Amino acid sequence: MPPTGAPTLLASRSAFNRALAAWYRAHARRLPWREAPSLYKTVVSELMLQQTQVKTVLPYFDRWLKALPDFAALAAAPESRVLKLWEGLGYYSRARNLHRLAQALAALPTPPRAPAAWRELPGVGPYTAAAITSIAFGAPAACVDGNVVRILARLTADGTAYRDSASAAKAFASLAAALLPADHPGDHNQAMMELGATVCFRRQPLCLTWPVRPFCAAGRQGDPESYPRLAPKKMERVEVTRVWCVHRGALLLHLTDAGARRFASIHELPTAPQAGLTDADAARGKLLARKRRGITRFQITESIHAVPPPRGTLPPGLKWVRLDQLESVSLSGPHRRWITALLAEAGW
Ligand code: ADE
Repeated sequence: MPPTGAPTLLASRSAFNRALAAWYRAHARRLPWREAPSLYKTVVSELMLQQTQVKTVLPYFDRWLKALPDFAALAAAPESRVLKLWEGLGYYSRARNLHRLAQALAALPTPPRAPAAWRELPGVGPYTAAAITSIAFGAPAACVDGNVVRILARLTADGTAYRDSASAAKAFASLAAALLPADHPGDHNQAMMELGATVCFRRQPLCLTWPVRPFCAAGRQGDPESYPRLAPKKMERVEVTRVWCVHRGALLLHLTDAGARRFASIHELPTAPQAGLTDADAARGKLLARKRRGITRFQITESIHAVPPPRGTLPPGLKWVRLDQLESVSLSGPHRRWITALLAEAGW
């Protein structure tokens, strides 16, 4: 069912789009992928921006473009280099997808221009396909993510209760497409992203600076924070026991399998089972740190315990990495921070 309030918004579509475009021209942040844009910059930035904020991406994007300036350089780079450049950005399957995407493009005479063809490429879902093709080729494809849903739900004061953000995105897809102007659809999509990121915040939106305020039904009602109506996420608690073992100037690490979906080819402190121990065995070792973090719907508590070096041959995936070589291996962001802190505490 189309969201309630959609017909009213669509009735003033041209005026809405004019106001949005004027605001975007005047207020868009100057971001490196928007300066002298190219297909390569668009693709790299869109993959980096999946689940990640602009301010986190900025230093990575600059470093990446200096190291791997085009699709050909990326396609030819060894995977270890690609992962090293991505280190700390998280969701490492994106780096491997970007690498494979560059290799897939290298095998084509020209890059595809249609969103459907991009969705066939590694790491490209409907949102990313719409973003890349609208920005790089002017394709008439609307981006719909959490930001866009929030803006549209507020503009239309849509009272529907959605089960989750995916079903809300589905419900708003046709409205987003109907709003999209024929000229400069990429700018329109980026303007919507920009509003979500800089004005229409989830909490305490800056309605007074909202460039399309006259069109916003929830703003008029004075309760924009009530939209969209989404069922609260069910969080799951997870406990992980990890081991810490330094022996003869080397740290015991686990290297994830290259085929793993998340954290492929990334080093981490081993979990107890990876080190051939039960959680209870490992937990008998001295507790060095307890860390909490949230990843998607998981609330994860990780305890790091000191254990003696394993005897005999190392279990699969485990390796000793010399302390003076730690800089050169790919570690996930939190693990690099934990390891640095634990080594500093131990006086290394
Ligand atoms: N988030 C996703 N794509 C973006 C873009 N092109 N600019 C700013 N934020 C974004």
